[in-house]
This record gives sequence, C-alpha cells and structure tokens, in this order.
Amino acid sequence: MADGEIRISIDKLIEIVQSGGKIRTGVDVFNKQGRLILERDVLVADVAPLLRVKKFGVELISIVSGGNGGLWDESGQPVVVKTEAAPASKPAPAPKPPLPVSEIDRRIHDIEELRRAAAEKASLAKKSLKNALNQIQETGGNFDFEPIDDTVRDLFGFISQNETAFSYLTREIFSYDQYLYNHSLNVCVIGTVVMKKFNENFNAMVNNHLNSMPTSLTAAATKAMPQAFKYFQDDELQDISAGFFMHDMGKMLVEKSILNKKGRLSKSEFEVVKTHSTINGIKILEKNHLINPYLCKISHYHHARLFEDEERCYPAEISPLDIPAYVKVCKLADIFDAMTSKRCYKEALNPVGVVADIFHKYAQKDTLLQFILHAFVRAVGIYPSGSVVSLINGQLAYVLDSEGPALIAFTDADGRPLTAKQDIMVLDKKAAERGLKIDRRKAPMDPVQAHKILPDYLKSP
Ligand SMILES: [Fe+2]
Ligand SMILES: [Fe+2]
Repeated sequence: MADGEIRISIDKLIEIVQSGGKIRTGVDVFNKQGRLILERDVLVADVAPLLRVKKFGVELISIVSGGNGGLWDESGQPVVVKTEAAPASKPAPAPKPPLPVSEIDRRIHDIEELRRAAAEKASLAKKSLKNALNQIQETGGNFDFEPIDDTVRDLFGFISQNETAFSYLTREIFSYDQYLYNHSLNVCVIGTVVMKKFNENFNAMVNNHLNSMPTSLTAAATKAMPQAFKYFQDDELQDISAGFFMHDMGKMLVEKSILNKKGRLSKSEFEVVKTHSTINGIKILEKNHLINPYLCKISHYHHARLFEDEERCYPAEISPLDIPAYVKVCKLADIFDAMTSKRCYKEALNPVGVVADIFHKYAQKDTLLQFILHAFVRAVGIYPSGSVVSLINGQLAYVLDSEGPALIAFTDADGRPLTAKQDIMVLDKKAAERGLKIDRRKAPMDPVQAHKILPDYLKSP
C-alpha cells in the first residue's frame, strides 16, 4: 500500500457523505474492467457517484491522503478511520428486490434536487456567458475570460458528479440571444459528458488491448496507437469544456439580421455566417491573448468536415484527419443541440430520432468517429431519470432509473391520471414478452417539461 493510503468500504464512504461529509480519493479508482469510475481530484459531496461506484461492484476504495485525498466531516474536520479488510468471498448475488417505498421517495427527491441544482447552475452560467458576449459585442472583441473560466470549472465539477445533468437543461428558446446562451451551455454540458465517456472508452480499449497480448509487446502496442486516440487529463478536459462553452463567441461579431433570419440563407449570407468560426473566433481569442490550443481549435474548426465528402462544412481546406477528437465532439454536440431545441420557426426533433440520424450519418465513416459516437450515445442516454415516456399501451410513465429502465406509470391507457402511486415496473426482457414496452415513435419528455405534468406524488415536497 502507498504511503498515507487507507482502504475503506464504499458503504462507509456513502455514510460519511450522506451525513454531510466530503471525500477526495487522491488516486484514480478503476473497476475490475479497468474503467475509471472515480477521479482522484474530484471532491465528492454527493452520494450519486459513490452509488455508481457501488453498482460497479467495487467494495473497497483507496484514499491516499498524501495525494490531495482525504475524508472530512460536515464541519470540514478530517475523519479518522482505520483501513478495512476485503470482505470474505461473496455469495452469488440474489435477484434485486423491488425498492422499498421510502427508497423510491428518496430517489424522487434526489431527481428533484438535481433538477433544481442544474437549473441554478445553468442560470449562473448563462449570466456569466451573457456578460462576456455583451463585452465582445460592445468592444469589438475584448472580454474578461476569468469569470468564464471560473464558471466552467464550477460546471465541470458539477457535471463530473452528475453526468445526466444535461437532460435537465432547457431546449425551449425564442429570442436569438437566449438561444445562443442556452445553446452554448448545452454544447458545453453535452460535450463534456461525451469527453468523459470518451476517456472511459479509451481506458477500457487500451486495457483490453494490452491484456490480450504478451507483456513484451505492450509498450510497443501503446506507442502504435493512432494519435487521435488519446486520454485527456482533467486540466485538458477543463480547457476543452471552456472551448465548448465559447465555441460560437464569433457570432457576436456577425450581423444579427443574418443570424436571426428564419428562412434559408443566401450564398452571400452563408459566407458571412461562416466568419463566426473561420475569422471572428480566432480574432477574439488573439485579441484577449488566449492562445490555448483547445480554445483556438474548437472555435476555428467546429464546423469542419467530419469525413471527406461531407458538404456545407467550413473551413473547407482542413482535412478531417487533422481535426482532433474533441473538436469532432463539439460539432456533434452542436448538431444534436440545434436539432433537439425548439426555436420560434421550428419544433424540436425527437432526440431518439436525432441520435439515430447522427449515428447513421457518421458511424460508418472511420474508426475514430465510431469511437466518438459510441461515447456520444452513452452520454446522451435516451431515458434520463425524471423524464416521461409513452408506453405502447398508451400509458405515460415517469423514469425513476434509466437503467432497466425502472418506471412508474401515472396515467391509464386513455391518458387519465392515476390518483395513487403505482408499483415500479422494470422494462426488461420479461416485460417486453408481456407486451410492456416504450413507444419509440413518441419523443420522451425531458425532466424540465415532464415536471410540469407530473402528479404531486412524483414530486418532492
Ligand atoms: Fe458555430
Ligand atoms: Fe454552435
């Protein structure tokens, strides 16, 4: 064991955090398959990531106090604990019993809390972006980056602990300015989760690859990995998130009448719009001495080609092979958000269909895109907790847990409200054999919209 290392059970950690304490591992924690499940520098003050770790079957966690890690109680005092031994051999897992009622209420409460926290974070982030974009417009390009950097760091910590946070953000926008603030935030949140999944997939891929070959070859095999496949460190991820947040700042130097135009753009108007990324973004970054390559590349290339023959992309001269993975992630998040957002001149498209279309268009083109899309599909998860889905028998159901998924129906087959809380149903294979399925032709309602139609017993007091 490393110096200052203690091993402590996941249940004990959950107990500490539940009673208001905080933990930081000080080392990366991986599951048995080599997937990173808890990062060393993330301060955990919420039980959700610990419950996820528990779900992965990890029983003991190393805390290394010398590596920035530690355990603190609700008043910030270090918690003194002894290292714990691994539990004796485990009996075969029994089938999961249904959640007791109090557990269901707690889950509903957690979903509500997350929705509220996400709304609060979103409002602060949009204010900060609004200030920066207004400064850019008023000064012709100057703005104060520090508040943006602080906002992104805060968001990054929040997203790291709540990966479904993006589904709690609004997509119902009317004015152009409001659209730009929301769109920038959504691209930042969606893109950040995709990058996290990209890292997880990368770890799993490298481990599988290395485990499958003799030790003498592993160093050479790591060197031979294509450049585009790389693991991004936390500080790189934070810069990338800032790049996602500011990807469209160049639009502040584009004529509003063109950006607001409802119909198809003329050729010359399209040329003007293109300058937001090909000229203005870089100009603003240079003016503010922000030469960070992540910010620059995202701003410059987020509309570039993802594959050789893709049309209406700019700047046209750059080869898709020279576009880094994180810029490709920005473009996909941008397309997904634009298509699933409601505007004054168009309805929002069903996210299920949008994900399918994006996958269909890009997945066959090359291995890196396939890899990114795999991360993308994992990140946007179609049925987040708190959303509402339609069942094929006509009932509406609340998603309690996206795994399963576990649902609670709250209307009958004719759409009439059910006055009492129903039992949980898990839509597994057996349920499907009984004809109980989600109607995939109907768009799920995101948690923000869903909250407006839920009965009181599915809302936290
Ligand atoms: Fe753009
Ligand atoms: Fe955009």
